[in-house]
Amino acid sequence: MKSVRKERILITGPFGQIGSELVPALQERYGKENVIALGHVTIPDWYDGKMVTGDVRHLDSMKKIVQENSITQIYHLASLLSATGESKPSMAWDINMTGLKNVLDLAVEFRLRVFWPSSIAVFGPTTPKENTPQSTVLEPTTMYGVTKLAGEVLCQYYHLKFGVDVRSLRYPGIISWKAEPGGGTTDYAVTIFYDAIQKGRYECFVRESTVLPMMYMDDAIKATLQLMEAPSNKIKVRTSYNLAAISFSAKELELEIQKKMPGLKVTYRPDNRQEIADSWPMSIDDSTARGDWGWKHDFDLPLMTKVMIEELTQKLSR
Ligand code: SER
Repeated sequence: MKSVRKERILITGPFGQIGSELVPALQERYGKENVIALGHVTIPDWYDGKMVTGDVRHLDSMKKIVQENSITQIYHLASLLSATGESKPSMAWDINMTGLKNVLDLAVEFRLRVFWPSSIAVFGPTTPKENTPQSTVLEPTTMYGVTKLAGEVLCQYYHLKFGVDVRSLRYPGIISWKAEPGGGTTDYAVTIFYDAIQKGRYECFVRESTVLPMMYMDDAIKATLQLMEAPSNKIKVRTSYNLAAISFSAKELELEIQKKMPGLKVTYRPDNRQEIADSWPMSIDDSTARGDWGWKHDFDLPLMTKVMIEELTQKLSR
């Protein structure tokens, strides 16, 4: 796809699970020279593009980066996920909240459009579990969820008070093959593919009956670009949009993989991540996103499973 309009994009957390696929998608759309990764010490082999180093917690250095690179949009992905957040709650608060507040302050000063990911972790045990509505009880019980809830209302506040064009999605668990995810609860649904291909067996850290909302990466990227490119008047939710594609139990995923890999053996040994999974919804009502800006997913469970096995087998044989 050709460049669609002149934007200068800064992406934080560019080499995480989502960044690794969003960065190339943004480069293709806006031109390699217009996408700037806020990097770390280590840069992955696949990266071919512009990079600056910085820390989202340091406002002054972030401001310099925005100014020097004439940034017009920030995709702010840098964050600790749910399981890591439980082992390092203070660090999760610091990175997740200070980082977002800095990005929003820069958005006020430089009139930036911002994308910030929220999550199904914003929900908690008191939220309706099935077809969870857009507007509902939000009482998360993880530090990660607390930062997502606080972040959502902070985004809405900056929109109402300062007119910041900030847009957000409550991602479900994201399944992908390019970069390994780190520290999430839904990650069992990624690790199972690695272990199926490399070992022929997998020990799952949630019970077989655990149902969580999930999505294949290509759908997540499509939703993100679609949301960010929608006209401003279509964006009616400035906290964060519910977003859904597929919901399945761990056992259903096992059975689907076994259709292609009949030798796979899965055992179930729930650990502390079970409690996190139990606090989240099983399925999400995303009709508001579908109605407001035309969201529609492409990947169902069989298609996602097929593509994951094919792509990951190829990646691991390289
Ligand atoms: N996938 C994330 C996690 O499990 C939820 O946003 O932490």
